[in-house]
Amino acid sequence: MSQIPTYVTGVPNGTEKGLYLAVDLGGTNFRVCSVTLNGDTTFNLTYNKVAIPKELMVTDKASKLFAFLALQIENFLKEHHSEHFESHRRRRATISTPSGYREDEVFHLGFTFSFPVQQLAINKGNLMRWTKGFDIEDAVGKDVCALLQTEIDKLKLPVKVAALVNDTVGTLMARSYTSTGAQRSTLGAIFGTGTNGAYIEKTSNIKKKIEGEYDESTGEMVINTEWGSFDNQLNVLPTTPWDKELDTKSVNPGFQMFEKRISGMFLGEITRLAILEMMQSKDSTLFRDDNSSHNDWTTTTTVASQSGLYKQWGLDTAIMSVAAADSTPELSTLRQELEKDLNIYTPSLEDAQAFKTVADAVARRAARLSAVAIGAVAIQSGLLKDPEAEVIDIGVDGSLVEHYPFFRDMIYEALRSIDEIGIQGASKIRIGVAKDGSGVGAALIALVAAKMDKSSGSLATEVKRELDSIPAETGLSNTALTVGGLLGVAAIAAVWWTRQR
Ligand code: BGC
Repeated sequence: MSQIPTYVTGVPNGTEKGLYLAVDLGGTNFRVCSVTLNGDTTFNLTYNKVAIPKELMVTDKASKLFAFLALQIENFLKEHHSEHFESHRRRRATISTPSGYREDEVFHLGFTFSFPVQQLAINKGNLMRWTKGFDIEDAVGKDVCALLQTEIDKLKLPVKVAALVNDTVGTLMARSYTSTGAQRSTLGAIFGTGTNGAYIEKTSNIKKKIEGEYDESTGEMVINTEWGSFDNQLNVLPTTPWDKELDTKSVNPGFQMFEKRISGMFLGEITRLAILEMMQSKDSTLFRDDNSSHNDWTTTTTVASQSGLYKQWGLDTAIMSVAAADSTPELSTLRQELEKDLNIYTPSLEDAQAFKTVADAVARRAARLSAVAIGAVAIQSGLLKDPEAEVIDIGVDGSLVEHYPFFRDMIYEALRSIDEIGIQGASKIRIGVAKDGSGVGAALIALVAAKMDKSSGSLATEVKRELDSIPAETGLSNTALTVGGLLGVAAIAAVWWTRQR
């Protein structure tokens, strides 16, 4: 596993305040947001979300993707911060100094980039490899902050990419910022399109050299584990023929082997391959109507030739959630969904039962493997044996853990069966959803970075001015929001910001 030191040496406590900008690239969507931390564990957030066009995920030039991102930032500023944006443009046009504008007129932006990055500084990190279906060779080995800044500059936006953070770190920060209990969070984890975790480690346990400056006073640092790549050699991970096929046909064979058994992007595909093999086997009658003793809809089950079952990635993990949630005797919701989503017409009860059994097995294995990762961090933290520690708090985010029925229950069931944890240990582990993790944390780190940059001494005044100018209607409550992972990154910056002061 990469075990990347993040240079983040503390977690927030909810009293941090301010207005920050953040963007989040991590999967199917790109989010741009401004976040106001209210200093009382709550926050308000304004955001735009746009789907990343598929062709930009696998393009030849990195600049094509990053130009698209910069354009979204421009749109966001025009829509939500038009006054600041326009006045900056006017000043730029009239001021004849070499730089053309003052540093304090610039928005400092936190960049949540949820792929493995070798972090070199708070605002600098080279992409190690792509995951989750992205494949742009041109970007590998390059500093992703610089790639984004170049495109922002081409549009002459008043924005400086000031901080870089992984979504798991943001989630850990967000959980710490919003959590009102005395116990701080130990782990931030994502179980969504991809999977990963970031946890607090004693610096004395970190064996690799940490280059550059960081606050040594806490004796701790957040580590981005990149556990998605745990056991790429497959020494211990369970492997089926369908796992093998999925991997061989993926854009990154041999990598992210743990993630490929856990995360939302892959579970549908594993299920599809298993179902397809059953359908094509001579010994099985799946979706063939022969064994449909209770097929009460019509007599013939047919699978249309354009069914997603026949296409790579054609089975969305969402239908597995439907299968898990349907406990009606006739499985009628699932059967309707099989028709609607997969063009399997008039499936029998037995067909639906078989589908549900396969989907449940794939999801249960994913949850149990997730528990391995969570359990390992709980054990490593030493808190299980610490009588002073009442809870081991874990912040999670992502579609699987949020929307897949019983996913957390299955994780707990597995945690209880780990010898070193057991029933008692599992009851100490508190897994709670941390919403909006990556945005807020990114924005906060951006603020710290700005503070560290001497030339931006008056940024705080600018930020305060912006804060005062936000119209009341942009106030969304943190419970009402559905933006994934946008809070914690700002929280990190706030911690540092507070310390700087
Ligand atoms: C990436 C991680 C990220 C995780 C969750 C993985 O594919 O490698 O950096 O944290 O997905 O988004």
